[in-house]
Amino acid sequence: MLITGGAGFIGSEFVRMTITEYPEDSVVVLDKLTYAGNERNLDPVRDSGRMRFVHGDICDAALVDSIAAETDVVVNFAAESHVDRSLEAPGQFIQTDVYGTFVLMEAARSAGHQRFVHVSTDEVYGDVVFGRSHEGDPLRPRSPYSASKAGGELLVQAYRASYGFPAVVTRGANTYGPYQYPEKIIPLFITNAIDDRELPIYGAGDAVRDYLYVADHAGAIDAVLRRGIPGEDYNIGTGGETDGVTVADTVLALLEKPATLKYFVRDRLGHDRRYALDSTRVEALGWRPTVDFADGMRRTVEWYVANQAWWRPLKSGEFWEFYSRNYKPLPAAGAS
Ligand code: NAD
Ligand code: DAU
Repeated sequence: MLITGGAGFIGSEFVRMTITEYPEDSVVVLDKLTYAGNERNLDPVRDSGRMRFVHGDICDAALVDSIAAETDVVVNFAAESHVDRSLEAPGQFIQTDVYGTFVLMEAARSAGHQRFVHVSTDEVYGDVVFGRSHEGDPLRPRSPYSASKAGGELLVQAYRASYGFPAVVTRGANTYGPYQYPEKIIPLFITNAIDDRELPIYGAGDAVRDYLYVADHAGAIDAVLRRGIPGEDYNIGTGGETDGVTVADTVLALLEKPATLKYFVRDRLGHDRRYALDSTRVEALGWRPTVDFADGMRRTVEWYVANQAWWRPLKSGEFWEFYSRNYKPLPAAGAS
């Protein structure tokens, strides 16, 4: 298997799971090691003899062609993945999430691969005010990140229709757990709270997300890889709806920190208020979420408390530069 973005958060979980659960499989991880990629995430399976790491870019067609020729399947996790960074600098999102998807599909097509898993996101549906998103619903992305993910998906759809390209697409919900770069809400709030720093909550903290534990997300992608129907898209969610204030309160309760650490900041531009998925189709493959929010948060907090050597070096330099540009105080009452 060629697993792109396999040194990132969900990709590395998928690599560790595949090596552990499938002794007959071997993987090549292709990862650019952006700020979000970390080769140490693969340490637990480094001695397996069934994982090879290649440092490189999915946009590098010659490199991708050579790896595709020695593999049977692509699972594409590689992406720029943080909405707030996409609002500040969209270009790299379009390059990796759209152009990179094209390069991977061209390589897989030339190599005659019979399966291509494209990992996408529930954010492609845009803001979901009522009801739940079904796989046939229109894509209405509203941030540069979600638009770049939707753009990658549209290319996948075109390759399926034009060339019979055997791709499956997954649209997963907001994922959390061990090894997540501490810019996303849950690891940011946990690591800030450990250090008695404020937890910056956007706006009123009332936007909701369906938080999905990372092992469950990797398990669902595995089900789609092995049992999904080529040409289909698969939502992956738990059905939960948790707002930002509840995330902060849960972190503070688990770490026994005071409510005064909650700090309301200026809202995200174009902030999607809600995503909600109908996951019946992936459940028909035999997948169910196994870790609920309370249990997943307990496990995640325990991991960040026990693995400070993993995340402390990441919260330095460029991390705080981005942080100080991104988080602004709420406008004063009455100010326009
Ligand atoms: P991440 O940011 O933690 O990891 C992305 C990985 O891709 C990193 O290792 C990075 O170095 C690598 N990468 C980036 N650009 C690359 C390039 N041009 N060539 C090769 N490697 C490159 O992201 P994640 O949270 O693990 O998300 C993985 C995938 O899942 C993404 O496609 C994302 O859109 C999708 N997804 C994420 C979530 C979530 O909540 N985190 C939910 C649903 C879907
Ligand atoms: O839903 C799937 C998506 O989930 C993935 O496609 C993305 O890659 C992933 O980053 C995630 O996107 P979100 O925008 O939902 O995640 P984030 O952690 O950035 O924000 C979650 C919610 O918390 C959202 O309502 C914004 C809010 N938030 C976020 C941050 C970083 C805050 O209130 N404060 C923060 O500091």
